[in-house]
Amino acid sequence: NMKIVKTIEEVRQCVKEWRREGLSIGFVPTMGYLHEGHQSLINRAGENDRVVVSIFVNPMQFGPKEDLASYPRDLERDSRLCRDNGVDLIFHPEPEEMYDAGFCSYVDMSVLTEELCGISRPVHFRGVCTVVLKLFNIVTPDRAYFGEKDAQQLAIIKRMVKDLNLNAEVIGCPIVREFDGLAKSSRNTYLNAEERKAALVLYGSIRLGKKLIKDGERDAAVLIKAMKEFIQKEPLAKIDYLKAVDAMSMRQVEKLDRKVLVAMAVVIGKTRLIDNFTFERN
Ligand code: PAJ
Repeated sequence: NMKIVKTIEEVRQCVKEWRREGLSIGFVPTMGYLHEGHQSLINRAGENDRVVVSIFVNPMQFGPKEDLASYPRDLERDSRLCRDNGVDLIFHPEPEEMYDAGFCSYVDMSVLTEELCGISRPVHFRGVCTVVLKLFNIVTPDRAYFGEKDAQQLAIIKRMVKDLNLNAEVIGCPIVREFDGLAKSSRNTYLNAEERKAALVLYGSIRLGKKLIKDGERDAAVLIKAMKEFIQKEPLAKIDYLKAVDAMSMRQVEKLDRKVLVAMAVVIGKTRLIDNFTFERN
């Protein structure tokens, strides 16, 4: 029987009980409107004795002109998905429970958060890191699960856990896609029929990029140019960024001579979508 709680105190009570019984805790932080991407993380978290999912649309990680107000929400459907997938506890706080009037502590990381998404979303990762640290302190998970869809977020969280000596193992899980290759995202609901078709250029460019690499291309500039030209053929698509970066430091590379992340953000109509793949020289 799954519990849904809104207060930090209730989570602590629950966790304390489990700890007394010597049970391990897996944690999946989300902003809700759950889909098969989230579900894959929840299922993986089943390797622990207990699974906690947080559903919190974190205001701090949205910029002033971003989609905080319109971000999709459906707690009832989310609860059903969680229950059907063996979740033990949903933490669903109000913003005031997480941020009281005097709140003024932030996790600010440097370089890692200033590349890629950090350029067009300057306050985003400060909000992500701050809320994830808070959630880790509340839930005290043994393992926490994050999607490779948000590759930069995953790299940042891994770095934060290391830098701040947090007691959780961070586990990355593969990107889950729609039947036609579009990466699953809560924001896909913003797309109208025409935009939904146009959104296929993200995965199309990834397929092209992988093919070029398979055929021997190792020059990042050549790869990126070809992928960009592919996307630019779609009139509804506007590239925010498309870069080949070192998978650890997020710094741009010239050659594919290490573990490289090829990451993009593309705006389709008004919806900003991200996708990526990694290449490791073998
Ligand atoms: P949200 O966008 O809800 O995503 C929650 C988790 O699900 C993230 O780790 C994300 O990478 C993963 N995820 C989303 N789509 C996926 C897909 N198609 N395949 C695999 N995994 C996918 O990311 C956040 O929320 C927030 O920033 C959060 C970490 C909860 C902090 O507020």
